[in-house]
Amino acid sequence: MARILVTNSEGTPGVGKTAELLAAGAGGLDAIEAGIRLVEADTSIRTVGRGGWPNLLGEVELDAAMIDGSSFRSGAVGAVKGFLHPISIARAVLERLPHELLVGEGAARFAAEINAETTNNLTPDSERVWREWFEENVPAADRAKWPDVPLATLCQQAIDPEKGMDTTVFLSLDSKQEIMAGVSTSGWAWKYPGRLGDSPIIGAGCYADSRYGAAACTGTGEMAIRAGSARAIVLYMKMGLSLEAAVDEAIDDLRQLRGGLLQRITLHAIDRAGRHRVVALNAEKQLTYWLWQEGDAEAHAEPAEIIAL
Ligand code: GLY
Repeated sequence: MARILVTNSEGTPGVGKTAELLAAGAGGLDAIEAGIRLVEADTSIRTVGRGGWPNLLGEVELDAAMIDGSSFRSGAVGAVKGFLHPISIARAVLERLPHELLVGEGAARFAAEINAETTNNLTPDSERVWREWFEENVPAADRAKWPDVPLATLCQQAIDPEKGMDTTVFLSLDSKQEIMAGVSTSGWAWKYPGRLGDSPIIGAGCYADSRYGAAACTGTGEMAIRAGSARAIVLYMKMGLSLEAAVDEAIDDLRQLRGGLLQRITLHAIDRAGRHRVVALNAEKQLTYWLWQEGDAEAHAEPAEIIAL
């Protein structure tokens, strides 16, 4: 069984580091955390970490998760503000707490307790774009009372698929044949404060089982939550389906969704034999992802399959 790494195009700043560590024999959690930290710190990646888009109130709220496919311990954080590396806070939840998911103030309290690095994740450019959106879209009466105004209607109008597309996802099979997954995101631009997408929800945004494989989703997290997509793919493999067929079944589950926020979603999956599949659903343009396999000098980009739901 060959080592493998799959990450999406948002993983560009970190793919080299993660591949290098996997090639050197590092464990999947270490390799994935190191790669995602580079993505989180890179302000050119607008949907992850520092430089990510803010919520309706102009605050950057970050989500991240990791899962160890051998112990099934996971660690996740949601709606975290003011910390540079949510993936490392998620890793610390996995390793140091009897819990799997912390959100908001509790997550920030824990982050401070472990001396996680603080930062202002709202970059001047994100603030400028948010301010333009605010001036154009928030009625003058509401602007006068801001932020003490109802946000529900605004949230319905504010969904911007061009600014909410992607989490970064990393899936690995390491030298010990253990399968791990990690994800990190700022979620949808202009989301309702406190909104969690699929990324911190283990089984929705990511899942791993060293006996079968791993999966992770990007795009509209609401859909992956409703269909339990990452866990579904791995469970379909457990039930005997091939990687190919498991992803097809998860796509069929997504096809059954009615109402709510139905948009683009991309499924990433690997199996324990080192095979992989990446399918972009409802994609309007070609998406690429990064693939590194044992023996490769470096990762290379591949086009995702595109399927219309
Ligand atoms: N897939 C990321 C999110 O929906 O927040």
